[in-house]
Amino acid sequence: MKKPDLQIGIIGSGGRGAHLGGLAHRPGQGARVVACCDVNPATLAKNHAVYGPGIFTTSDYRALLARDLDAVIIATPDFLHEEQAVATLERGFALYLEKPMALTIAGCDRILRAAARSRARLYVGHNMRHMPFVRKMKSLIDDGAIGEVKACWVRHFVGHGGDFYFRDWHAERRYTTGLLLQKAAHDIDILHWLCGGYTRLVNALGGLTLYGDLPGRLPAIKGPRPIKPGDMQLDLFPPTRARHLNHHIDVEDLSTMQMRLDNGVFATYAQCHYTPDYWRNYTVIGTAGRLENFGNGEPGTYLRLWNRRAGYNPKGDVTYKIPVSRGTHGGADPMIMAEFLRFAREGGRTETSPLAARESVAAGCQATASLRRHGVPLKVPPVTAALRKYFTT
Ligand SMILES: NC(=O)c1ccc[n+]([C@@H]2O[C@H](COP(=O)([O-])OP(=O)(O)OC[C@H]3O[C@@H](n4cnc5c(N)ncnc54)[C@H](O)[C@@H]3O)[C@@H](O)[C@H]2O)c1
Repeated sequence: MKKPDLQIGIIGSGGRGAHLGGLAHRPGQGARVVACCDVNPATLAKNHAVYGPGIFTTSDYRALLARDLDAVIIATPDFLHEEQAVATLERGFALYLEKPMALTIAGCDRILRAAARSRARLYVGHNMRHMPFVRKMKSLIDDGAIGEVKACWVRHFVGHGGDFYFRDWHAERRYTTGLLLQKAAHDIDILHWLCGGYTRLVNALGGLTLYGDLPGRLPAIKGPRPIKPGDMQLDLFPPTRARHLNHHIDVEDLSTMQMRLDNGVFATYAQCHYTPDYWRNYTVIGTAGRLENFGNGEPGTYLRLWNRRAGYNPKGDVTYKIPVSRGTHGGADPMIMAEFLRFAREGGRTETSPLAARESVAAGCQATASLRRHGVPLKVPPVTAALRKYFTT
């Protein structure tokens, strides 16, 4: 007999939530969006148009959670994740929680404890684990292509920083903690995944080096400033010409962190929010070679492996072309939603991991604290043994 559709609710149903909802909503084919929560009435009107006039809409997430649902997608701004996730898990609903899991280590651990208590299925939206270039790097490393991993260096060129991170709530610490958490959570998770360990010691340097000086700010408002895609100027360059940024900016636009992982790997991550280009480059070095990506899934993306002694060899010893996948974020978004829907229905193994999501926040939080204390090295506390056991067995 055909299984009924999973009944899905979305909290934060505009922006990223609208995109995820569009991927989840397959009436008659396994999943249906039946309830949406958003503080923007125009978003709720759009939700009716997309998912049908009969859906339940509200501006209060508690009213959504009072409904009879199977799964919930939370795609609100970061500072709302902890409270909304705990409430969703306490209702026993399967949860797709956007990254970063929460703003603090304690917040992540509270979410993990709520999931363990209720035994509700918790899934965190680290979609980069579904990007074909990342998956190819992971499988080559796991197959021993570079020997034992010893180091990983990540360079993150955030060419759209002025549009995506300094115009709205992202620009304020109270809503994000900082961009070494909000933006780097993806990369720290991938770095941990590729290297097979979690960060236990970190330090960082950085500052607000460009956007803080720009004139012509938006007028002050009390709460978090919503994103307005219409205000973005994606072709503007150089970034010193950017105007109408958030009235208050206290997150850094340039940062570098160093990590020592629990398996002895040393790693670095560097982020700049005003480069001309927008992509991330991973270099992983092992005892028998090094692997590097060029491109993040666009046509022409490839990996290069160096595994012989040489001087300057720009082409590497082996090149792996990455086929183009359909869908946003290099084809990762349709795959991550398909995995979540299967997990919500049946449980089982997933490529993403709540424990790993927590560890990326933990490293990002401690790096941010180090950066704001002039680079002092800080330990990254692990989760309790009980939580580790629950999420690994
Ligand atoms: N995995 C990815 O690739 C990816 C990409 C983009 C965003 N994200 C994550 O998704 C989340 C949302 O990001 P966004 O860019 O869509 O942000 P956004 O500011 O557009 O917010 C998303 C929606 O939440 C709504 N909202 C705000 N406050 C609310 C509240 N109190 N109750 C209910 N709804 C509320 C907004 O009106 C908006 O429709 C963030 O945590 C971000 O990190 C992840």
